[in-house]
Amino acid sequence: MNRDIHDMESTAAALVADGKGILAADETVSTLTKRFDVLGIRSTEQSRRTYREMLFTAPDAADYVSGVIMHDETIRQKGSGGTPLPEVLSSLGIIPGIKIDTGAKPLAGSIGETITEGLDGLRDRLEEYRGMGARFAKWRAVIRITDLLPTAACVSANVHALARYAALCQAGGLVPIVEPEVLMDGAHTIDRCEEVTGTVLHAVSRALFEQRVSLEAMLLKPNMVVSGKACLQQASVPEVATATLRCLRRHVPAAVPGIVFLSSGQSDRLATARLNAINRMPGPRPWKVSFSYGRALQDCALEAWHGRDENFELGQDALSHRARCNGAASVGTYTETMEAGRMSAAA
Ligand code: 13P
Repeated sequence: MNRDIHDMESTAAALVADGKGILAADETVSTLTKRFDVLGIRSTEQSRRTYREMLFTAPDAADYVSGVIMHDETIRQKGSGGTPLPEVLSSLGIIPGIKIDTGAKPLAGSIGETITEGLDGLRDRLEEYRGMGARFAKWRAVIRITDLLPTAACVSANVHALARYAALCQAGGLVPIVEPEVLMDGAHTIDRCEEVTGTVLHAVSRALFEQRVSLEAMLLKPNMVVSGKACLQQASVPEVATATLRCLRRHVPAAVPGIVFLSSGQSDRLATARLNAINRMPGPRPWKVSFSYGRALQDCALEAWHGRDENFELGQDALSHRARCNGAASVGTYTETMEAGRMSAAA
C-alpha cells in the first residue's frame, strides 16, 4: 500500500495549479559546467550554489513556479543565509523535488541507444531525500529516433524502469514525474516524431498499469511532437500543437492530473508559444498541460547573470520574466506583447 496517497495526489495537483509549472534545475555537475564554460563562468560548488539560489529566490517567481527539481548536490547545499536550499524553497511556497535516476547508460545489445539506470538502492535514496524535504522526483528515459531506432528492446527496457521507479516513489511517499523523452535530434519529420512518441507513451501507460502505479498521484513529462532539428520542413506552432494534443489524447489516460513538457533544446520563446497554443486548442484536454522546463527557463537568466555578483538581480529578473510568460502559456493567455523590450536567449 502506498503511503500518504492523498498527500501525493494533493502534491501532484499543486505542481500543476493554474498558471504554474516546474523549474527543472537538476543538471548534473558536468552538464552545468559545460553551460558555464560557454559563458566563461568558473564552475565550483560555490558558483553552482549561487546560481541555483539566484534562480530559486527570484522575486515573484513563486507566483509561476510550483516546484523545483534539484540535483543531489543542490538538495544538500545551504543558501547564503545558512538555510538548506530545500527549506528556502518551501518557505517561498515552492515544492522541492529531486532528480533520482543515475543517468542514461549504453543499452547492451543495441548501438546508439541508452537505458536509464538507478533502480538499485532507490528505496533508501528516496527515504533520504524525503527526509531532506523532497516531495516529488524525476526519472528521465531517453529515446532516439533514426530510420531504424528506437528498437522495441530499448522502449520496453526504459518504460519498465520508469514504471518500477514510479511505483517505488509512491511507496516512499514521493510523487513521481515520469519522463520519457523522445529526442529532437535528427532529420525526421513531425509525423515520425508523432508515431514514435505515441508508441512510447502507449508503452509507458501499459507499464504504469502493470506496476500498479496510481495515475492520480503522478505527473507525465513528455516531449512535444515536433520536427527533428535537422528536418528541412519545420512544423509551425499550430501544427505542433495539433499533433502534440492528438498524440497525448490517444495515449495518456485522463486520470493523470498533469502533463508538464520538457523544453528539449527548443528556443525559450518557441517553447512558450507552443505550450500556449496547445492550451488554446479546442478540447477535450482532460489533464492540466504545463511546463517543467530547464533550458527554456534558465538560458536567459544564465546569460544575464554571467557569473557576476553585480548581475544577480538581472538574472533573477530574466528568470521571473520567463516563468511569468510560461505561467500564462499554461492557461493559454500568453501573448507576444509580454515579451516587449526583452532579449531572447540564443537557442
Ligand atoms: P530541458 O527543458 O532543458 O529539456 O530540461 C528539462 C529536463 O528536466 C530534462 O530532463
